[in-house]
Amino acid sequence: MRFQLPSRSVRSIVRPLEPLTHPRLKMPQSSFFAKSVPFEQIDKLAISGGYSSIFASSQPSVPVVGNWEQRFCRLADTFQPILDRVYDFEVREDDVWIVTLPKCGTTWMQELAWLVINECDFETAKSVDLTHRSPFLEFNGVVPNVPHDTIAAANELPSPRLIKSHLPAWMLPRQIWSKRPKIIYVYRNPKDAAISYFHHWRGMVGYQGTKSDFMHSFIDGYVNFTPCWPHILDFWQLRHEPNIFFTSYERMKGQLGQVIAEVAQFLERTLSQEQIQQMQRHLSFESMRDNPACNHVKEFESMKAAAGREVEEFRFVRRGVVGSHKDELTADIIREFDLWSDSNLRDFKLNMDDFANYSKFASL
Ligand code: A3P
Repeated sequence: MRFQLPSRSVRSIVRPLEPLTHPRLKMPQSSFFAKSVPFEQIDKLAISGGYSSIFASSQPSVPVVGNWEQRFCRLADTFQPILDRVYDFEVREDDVWIVTLPKCGTTWMQELAWLVINECDFETAKSVDLTHRSPFLEFNGVVPNVPHDTIAAANELPSPRLIKSHLPAWMLPRQIWSKRPKIIYVYRNPKDAAISYFHHWRGMVGYQGTKSDFMHSFIDGYVNFTPCWPHILDFWQLRHEPNIFFTSYERMKGQLGQVIAEVAQFLERTLSQEQIQQMQRHLSFESMRDNPACNHVKEFESMKAAAGREVEEFRFVRRGVVGSHKDELTADIIREFDLWSDSNLRDFKLNMDDFANYSKFASL
């Protein structure tokens, strides 16, 4: 089946977000090329090593319309060795993919979808770390030089696999757009995602800069996997495709039972009312917070070692509320976020409630 072209306004989704002034880095025979970000731009993030904007070398096969020459994703240079391995990754038709921007409820949705796929096997869910049940495909870009190769691990997993990625649609394995596995995309209000990312960056990466600097880096698209709005808008364009399920952290918070039922319908699995209730208990904030299998303990250890210094105590399942930015960000930064979001959404006549409230199965 052909993908429908989006409306005219969506065609201008990618604006010239940055001047193309920096030299093209060598990534020979790659599907991507990189332009390094000037150091002063990333200094604020206190990252050692380079940071780049990654561009597609030729038009990617993802069926959304956009100006590919100006579309980019900001990533630490540690990602570069794995980007082609990810792009050439062998996809299976019965895979299920969870794709999100960081801190949008990825882990929560992974646990939910894993239980749906695995007939509510709570025993295994509690005893086997989620990172093994559902690998983070490009994790070796976040933390290189660890013995565990997540791409190889994903390759070896028996079907049906549940794979997590934070990459934008056009950087995902190219076979995704021909084999068309099911993809679950979770949106979260960027202000809440940003504050959650700030705590993650402190706790897992060892960031010691200010909250204000981090927020500006997020808005300006200098943290891994940003810029944020093009990432969301691409999946918004794709939301009506039969193999795409677009939902939100906000809906998971407000209507968890409904989202569980919708995911089951999307994945063509049957759940009883009793199973849905059991899942709601298992997926509650308190239960997830106290569940070691869902708190990325092993990833935390690798990142702590990679940071090479003490990082503050951090619990992955942290606060779990909608609107956490309201008491964690200043009024000035909230205003900056809102202006930035408006400027990205105005042309499409969209606002954040559209993303937060959207349901593929509204009548369920
Ligand atoms: P906060 O830092 O705002 O608390 P990700 O898995 O994409 O990194 O997302 C992490 C965010 O999801 C964190 O947000 C975390 O607390 C929240 N989260 C995880 N499990 C949750 C649950 N069961 N209920 C509510 N929020 C949850």
